[in-house]
Amino acid sequence: MPELVESSRDGHVALLRLNRPEARNALSPELMEQLAGELERLDPDPEVRCAVIAGSEKVFAAGADIRAMSERSFSEVLRHPAASFWRRLAAIKTPMIAAVSGYALGGGCELALACDMIVAAEGAQFGQPEINLGIIPGGGGTQRLARVLGKQRTMEYVLTGRRFDAADAHAMGLVNRVVADGRWLEEALALAADVAKQPPIAARLAKQAVLVAEETALSPGIENERRLYELAMATEDRVEGMTAFLEKREPKFEGK
Ligand code: HXC
Repeated sequence: MPELVESSRDGHVALLRLNRPEARNALSPELMEQLAGELERLDPDPEVRCAVIAGSEKVFAAGADIRAMSERSFSEVLRHPAASFWRRLAAIKTPMIAAVSGYALGGGCELALACDMIVAAEGAQFGQPEINLGIIPGGGGTQRLARVLGKQRTMEYVLTGRRFDAADAHAMGLVNRVVADGRWLEEALALAADVAKQPPIAARLAKQAVLVAEETALSPGIENERRLYELAMATEDRVEGMTAFLEKREPKFEGK
């Protein structure tokens, strides 16, 4: 099978690049399988502390593969393994950053939204154009966008299919930072390196705790945070972190 997802590693940061330029990185079932499979392979690796998902300068991902979808019958939609892609992605415990340049449309926008942070190039274009095809987002777009942008703005994008740019995405709180075209990958990798410097168990617990905020009411969310905090207090890394602070030196985290 061709490498639809190119995987590399620099220190504790994994970089996964979508590589299907002839179809604008459309998320074919094969590409989705490779991406989810690679993330699941990296997730338990203690050497991997943050993952960056990127496309090319021109396109992050143009959405689900319209050609493949056009041939799918209703019963196939119900049984298709691609349906589990989004659940598999949401189950990844490693912090993930989307590095977006060019188009992030439909499933491409949803892929970025499924990551924990987004770094976007100035020229990036986001959108949920599914309505133009007679469908609606199916990878979490209506839910994750509504949680970030609110109902009214999400309605506009989902009902009209119109795109929004990186500056608007930033103003609406969807992306963490907008950087000059040409620096998007470098900046995303730098942010990932900052995350990867942190004690990895605490980073995973922090990710888990924040994600619960999207799912639950305040009091149970705070209760859950407390349990995760107690777990963090049981790690060797927190002894190291606190000791290093008191000894006025840099901590050396081992992921234990
Ligand atoms: C399959 C795609 C594709 C897609 C582009 N291509 N997007 N193939 N699925 N999503 C293919 C084109 O058919 C074409 O193939 C080649 O890539 C180049 O596309 P162009 O349109 O010529 O490129 P460009 O002018 O650069 O425009 C880029 C673009 C545009 C703005 C991204 O391609 C576009 O609007 N794509 C569709 C975006 C979209 O509607 N996404 C939502 C999909 S539904 P040939 O063979 O002609 O060279 C979705 C549902 C998710 O995502 C549900 C959850 C799973």
